[in-house]
Amino acid sequence: MPSLREMGHADLDTVTRIEQSAHAHPWTRGNFSDALGSGYLCKVYEQGGVTLGYVVLMLAVDEAQLLNLTIAAEHWRKGLGRALLSESLNMAHGLKLRRMLLEVRPSNTAALGLYRGAGFREIGLRRRYYPADNTEREDAIVMERLL
Ligand SMILES: CC(C)(COP(=O)(O)OP(=O)(O)OC[C@H]1O[C@@H](n2cnc3c(N)ncnc32)[C@H](O)[C@@H]1OP(=O)(O)O)[C@@H](O)C(=O)NCCC(=O)NCCS
Repeated sequence: MPSLREMGHADLDTVTRIEQSAHAHPWTRGNFSDALGSGYLCKVYEQGGVTLGYVVLMLAVDEAQLLNLTIAAEHWRKGLGRALLSESLNMAHGLKLRRMLLEVRPSNTAALGLYRGAGFREIGLRRRYYPADNTEREDAIVMERLL
């Protein structure tokens, strides 16, 4: 069974490599380093020493913002994203948080399916929130899951 552990600076090469292969608009190594430095909850999801994915949560008073949840591309569609999200929700629940929030691109059908299936509902839209490949920017769907 894969499990979660604290992400550290020693993970940044692996995490950045996975990020680049999984996202059209990847976080940089500096973004992950800043997340660690800012005290965000950063966890690596691994099995037998192999990094399968990771999650980054920003905690506020009574809620968590899911900033990044990624599974390495070679492990997609095996139920690992669902399992990692479920572990993240359990972790937030254990911290007595009231809800989890996230933003997702409307074009990210995989993530939308994952989040809807885990009980997230759409509560808003941030127009032209994300940079995109063309000159237009892409909206962000805001989703919420009560814990
Ligand atoms: C989104 C992501 C984490 C899903 O991980 P995964 O391990 O492949 O997902 P799972 O196998 O657990 O699938 C769970 C659900 O996600 C949805 N899903 C996953 N991949 C999908 C795809 N290619 N197309 C449509 N739906 C998909 C489905 O609803 C699926 O449920 P189902 O198998 O019952 O149909 C993975 O695609 C990823 O890392 N993508 C790049 C990073 C990203 O976009 N992260 C989210 C925003 S930060």
